[in-house]
Amino acid sequence: MLTPTSPSTCSLLGDKMLSGLLLALSVVGSFAGADARKMMTKSEMHARQVEAAKRFERTPRAAPAAPPVKNITFTNPKASQFYVDGTTIPEVNFDVGPSWAGLLPISADPNETRELFFWFFPPGPEGSLDDLIFWTNGGPGCSSLEGFLQENGPFQWGVGTAQPIVNVNSWTNLSSVLWVEQPVGTGFSQGKPNITNEVDLAAQLVGFMEQFLEVFSELKGKKLYITGESYAGAYVPYIADFIYENPLAANLNLSLQGIWIGDPVLGWDVVQAQIPVVDFVHKYENVFAFNETFMAELDAIAVECNYAGYYEKFATYPPAGLLPLPGKSTEADRGCDVWDTVFDAALIKNPAFNIYRIFDTFPILWDVLGFPGSFPQTQLSPLYFDRADVKAAIHAPANVDWTECSNINVFPRGDASLPSSFTVLPNVIEKSVRSVIAHGLADFILIAEGARIVIQNMTWNGLQGFQTPIANDSFIVDGVGSLGTAHTERGLTFLEVELSGHMIPQYSPLAAFQSMAFLMGFRPTP
Ligand SMILES: *[C@@H]1O[C@H](CO)[C@@H](O)[C@H](O)[C@H]1NC(C)=O
Ligand SMILES: *[C@@H]1O[C@H](CO)[C@@H](O)[C@H](O)[C@H]1NC(C)=O
Ligand SMILES: *[C@@H]1O[C@H](CO)[C@@H](O)[C@H](O)[C@H]1NC(C)=O
Ligand SMILES: *[C@@H]1O[C@H](CO)[C@@H](O)[C@H](O)[C@H]1NC(C)=O
Ligand SMILES: *[C@@H]1O[C@H](CO)[C@@H](O)[C@H](O)[C@H]1NC(C)=O
Ligand SMILES: *[C@@H]1O[C@H](CO)[C@@H](O)[C@H](O)[C@H]1NC(C)=O
Ligand SMILES: *[C@@H]1O[C@H](CO)[C@@H](O)[C@H](O)[C@H]1NC(C)=O
Ligand SMILES: *[C@@H]1O[C@H](CO)[C@@H](O)[C@H](O)[C@H]1NC(C)=O
Repeated sequence: MLTPTSPSTCSLLGDKMLSGLLLALSVVGSFAGADARKMMTKSEMHARQVEAAKRFERTPRAAPAAPPVKNITFTNPKASQFYVDGTTIPEVNFDVGPSWAGLLPISADPNETRELFFWFFPPGPEGSLDDLIFWTNGGPGCSSLEGFLQENGPFQWGVGTAQPIVNVNSWTNLSSVLWVEQPVGTGFSQGKPNITNEVDLAAQLVGFMEQFLEVFSELKGKKLYITGESYAGAYVPYIADFIYENPLAANLNLSLQGIWIGDPVLGWDVVQAQIPVVDFVHKYENVFAFNETFMAELDAIAVECNYAGYYEKFATYPPAGLLPLPGKSTEADRGCDVWDTVFDAALIKNPAFNIYRIFDTFPILWDVLGFPGSFPQTQLSPLYFDRADVKAAIHAPANVDWTECSNINVFPRGDASLPSSFTVLPNVIEKSVRSVIAHGLADFILIAEGARIVIQNMTWNGLQGFQTPIANDSFIVDGVGSLGTAHTERGLTFLEVELSGHMIPQYSPLAAFQSMAFLMGFRPTP
């Protein structure tokens, strides 16, 4: 081990700090004695970091007995016009394997002008050929190519990173995956949005899926998992319910098994953002770093607005009855919008505060998709999916100015559907083999404790809420140990993921992968 005066520590500590350190050492001479703690060298530090990172690498699942190379061939000649050569994707300097992408209409009407953009990947070597995962981002109006490139796709170009890399936690290691930009108005999709509610949305998506299966008919009969995050807490349950219940989905030849929704919109705003926010600030007191006066003001508002003690009083296991609103509004009564108050104060202490993951500080990282957390992009560069060469490689329309989240409203007159927990979600859980609701514990835009309240107010499979408390440290991630909580009752699994922000497959890819493997029945526990 090198001593503190070794030149190799310069780059580790920085020149300014080192000169200060040497000064200090010369003053306290005995510090350099036999029992002094030796400084790490840069290579020693790197070795420890690399070893830690390895523990977060997934142990590959045993590959199924089937052939090792999963090269689905599609017999419909139309499929070939969607083929993407995995060696030709701009900036990606490795072969991502065969895939298929492009636009397909949302109905069989030959005059149909509305089309959705998709990117389909067959399973990697470990994946199953019997299953199909459908993924959608939320928004409303945010592109599923965000999920593809920064969350669960086979290659990844994350914020602040120099180039795309292989994603070892790609969901293609579970099975085939279909990323779809939906509804109409999102990403590369074509046509004028006119949906009014989630049932319209589901009907369009199911119409698209039927057209997709006409071209890629080898996927017919597969087990289907519908997944997504954020506003997809509305999309996913409504799509699943439509498939289970609506006669218009009778021709969709897929066997729906379950849903996975991360940090989902499920209930009222007041429940998912306002009631839990002061508890959340207390839990992460040192991250928010608010002053005592302000903390006392927050506590007073929480008392005034009936947020204080709400969780302990009403979210009991089992619950005593339906849970009341804290006031009159399903958003926030006058003077009770404490989420906004906290956000403004957080920005005073930390202008780089990111509502999607509270731990972010300066510097604000750039994003090749132009959406670096909750800040505007300042380091301008062409957005990856807006590049002509990228569009050409994936059969995307050259004339669309692609943005990650749509600048138009994909529900032009708003989304008239009630939140899914009040309507379709119970039925979807009842009809599914398994359903997973996962929540990042470092998400501020939606707060995990709010999801707990939503669940305790929901009745499925004959009972309201979870009957027994959610045990601490119950989510055990392979190679890591406990990383939050996991609780299953009557077909619903609820997970909370420590340190994860809003996008779990991005911020905690191993946790997301493992919970998907559970959803698909590849492992007995989440
Ligand atoms: C996989 O499919 C593509 C496109 O059909 C073909 O070019 C390639 O040779 C196939 N690879 C294997 C290993 O079969
Ligand atoms: C498609 O549009 C053409 C021209 O407007 C029309 O003649 C035809 O009937 C339409 N077909 C269908 C199936 O609606
Ligand atoms: C997991 O997926 C990545 C990306 O497709 C791939 O490179 C890797 O080989 C896969 N790993 C296994 C064990 O299947
Ligand atoms: C949306 O537009 C399509 C075609 O332009 C039309 O057939 C459909 O009825 C419209 N839907 C609603 C909800 O207005
Ligand atoms: C559904 O797909 C499977 C597998 O391709 C096929 O055997 C079956 O006939 C299809 N069923 C219908 C109703 O099309
Ligand atoms: C609980 O559910 C009922 C209806 O199912 C609803 O009226 C009420 O607003 C919900 N409470 C909360 C706190 O979400
Ligand atoms: C305490 O925090 C509040 C909210 O950010 C701020 O308005 C106030 O000026 C702060 N007080 C001190 C002494 O910093
Ligand atoms: C989990 O930990 C929290 C915080 O330490 C504690 O308040 C709570 O009672 C624990 N829950 C259970 C079910 O043990």
